[in-house]
Amino acid sequence: MNGKKAGGLVEQLIAKTEEFVKQEMSTDSTGHDWFHIDRVRKTALEIWEIEKVGDPLIIELAALLHDISDEKLHSTKEEGEEKLTSFLKQLSLEESKKHQIKEIIETISFKGGNNHSITSVEAAIVQDADRLDAIGAIGIARAFAYGGKKGQPIYDPSISVRKSMTNEEYRKGNSSSINHFYEKLLKLKEKMNTTTGREIAERRHAFMEDFLNEFYNDWNGKRQ
Ligand code: ADP
Ligand code: NI
Repeated sequence: MNGKKAGGLVEQLIAKTEEFVKQEMSTDSTGHDWFHIDRVRKTALEIWEIEKVGDPLIIELAALLHDISDEKLHSTKEEGEEKLTSFLKQLSLEESKKHQIKEIIETISFKGGNNHSITSVEAAIVQDADRLDAIGAIGIARAFAYGGKKGQPIYDPSISVRKSMTNEEYRKGNSSSINHFYEKLLKLKEKMNTTTGREIAERRHAFMEDFLNEFYNDWNGKRQ
């Protein structure tokens, strides 16, 4: 098979996956929309371009599908898993690659810090890209969008920051969007798997710190 033909098949696989994901995620407003998926895919491929480790097709498909089975989008965990499994069944891709994609998706979620360990370089890259989308300017916007949707305050000094939490507490506990920075977002820089991911995270992390400083200045009514 020549390169052009192979490229055509790959493009078809990606287009079919994009179409499925767009359709499945079009209604979500908690920061898990199609644009989040598209940013994660782009960032993951950007990391791959620099690191040049792993299979870029696996990385792209896993990035596109990484939130499809998310518990928040389905009534049960099983229903989410079934969505992913039945879609993968229709893809003309080797079983081993489908297995790899599923494994990446199962291992990358943060879920309050109780995460599984990473088992492949592809998973490392997709996880970094997903985490990068939770920090920096976009991360800040997503935190407040999520908080608004959940009806939690932007900030309430009487709600203390939780040191550790179960998955259940992460989803349902009493928090504020500002607390979420301390409970998750400011911890992500140290959790990057790849050198490139860490470099991108440094800048985004610094921006969040600046934002928090400004936020407290404004909160306390300090004049410049
Ligand atoms: P993922 O599962 O993709 O890691 P989450 O579902 O945990 O992401 O969260 C989606 C977005 O909402 C992320 O940007 C995350 O930082 C934000 N978020 C999650 N929980 C909270 C919370 N309690 N307060 C504010 N933002 C949150
Ligand atoms: Ni995600």
